[in-house]
Amino acid sequence: MLRRPLFVLFTIVVVLAAAAPVHARPPADPLAASAVTGCGTRQTPSVVSASTYEDVNPPAQAVDGNLDTRWSGYGFGAYLQLELPARATLCAVQVAWFRGDERWNDYTVYTSADGTTYRNVNAGRSTGTTRAMETYAFTPHEARFVRIAFWQNASQHLWASISEAAVLGVDATGGTQTVVAVGDISQTCVTADCPTARTAALTGQINPARILGLGDQQNGNDTYEDFLRYFDKTWGPLKGRFHPTPGNHEYEVAGADGYFRYFGPAAKPQGASWYSFDLGNWHIVSLNSEYDRNEGGAQLAWLRADLAATTKPCIAAYWHRPKFSSGSGHGNFPNVKPFWDALYAAGADLVLNGHDHDYERFAPQRPDGVASPAGIREFVVGTGGAGLRPFGATVANSERRIAGTHGVLRLDLGTNDYTWRFVDIDGATRDQGGPVACH
Ligand SMILES: [Fe+2]
Repeated sequence: MLRRPLFVLFTIVVVLAAAAPVHARPPADPLAASAVTGCGTRQTPSVVSASTYEDVNPPAQAVDGNLDTRWSGYGFGAYLQLELPARATLCAVQVAWFRGDERWNDYTVYTSADGTTYRNVNAGRSTGTTRAMETYAFTPHEARFVRIAFWQNASQHLWASISEAAVLGVDATGGTQTVVAVGDISQTCVTADCPTARTAALTGQINPARILGLGDQQNGNDTYEDFLRYFDKTWGPLKGRFHPTPGNHEYEVAGADGYFRYFGPAAKPQGASWYSFDLGNWHIVSLNSEYDRNEGGAQLAWLRADLAATTKPCIAAYWHRPKFSSGSGHGNFPNVKPFWDALYAAGADLVLNGHDHDYERFAPQRPDGVASPAGIREFVVGTGGAGLRPFGATVANSERRIAGTHGVLRLDLGTNDYTWRFVDIDGATRDQGGPVACH
């Protein structure tokens, strides 16, 4: 009998927390709708509801395709909710505000996969200059429920009024998805002229859907406080779309505690330090080269099962230590061959690593180092901001080497191919290629 009041109290707390007003504060990491390539598929909601509404302006009028009708609800935090028939990879909402050319509206967009836990994915103020749809984009993610909450408008009254609202998803094939991959990012320099700050700024300009952190996000100062003191000061604004893997420097702190505390659920989204996700037509796998690499271990068993389960035509994997590298700092790291064996057997296309502080691209090759069109193309991108190092002897199948240059790797992951560009911190493209078809 005591459970229900406690549950009600908990629900109120959750709702209040979710409804915290943000007014005109811009989102920490605004994502342009145009940056989410393939974000253009209008989703058809199965249920449209609202926290409150006027009888003459019910929620259904916000999805009737008619800009002359509207949903209106009164109150601070009043919201319109669009529920889809199933989860989909969502990337934006579109809102046509009633009298939107005469006044701005402060709003927050929330999404939820389960209808219980909602997250703030975009907050801001409408332009106040148009009655047409405005698009509010966010990092693509799986969800089923979308809420558009209203806080106030330029008329200084609490009537929320939306003429039309829509939810956009990523195309079924995902279109072309841009990612940035880079490792060996931060040391202790945080001012705007530091290489680390400049790779962060460059990545913001590229505006990828996801960022693949190739390990050693922090180099040499790796406690939780160090992450806040250094990495967070430059790359922190990009954290919402950053998918890390731990490097050897992060394990200099016992259990890589600083890394796991700083990245939180993003470091273990599926319970372990290795994980995978889909992006467009790609299956992307993040592995931990610092731990449990061998046949018979939990990571490799998981990897084989994960690769067997995917139906995506293209596969990329990333971790910190490269199997193949001409870098003078470290060179080849043969202990990750079991990763290569499993990925090669699954027909994987790309492997992305850091560790050596340089840029290197290889021809597709087999795990034993023999060049083959059926093999995997490896990139080493240890150029995120840490001190750079020269190359040593060139190893087999190395196609391109750039030393002494900080930058990031931009990958455009197509529906069945990929292209690459290594862009330096001055914005110059130093290496590029593709499209190369997936296996
Ligand atoms: Fe490293």
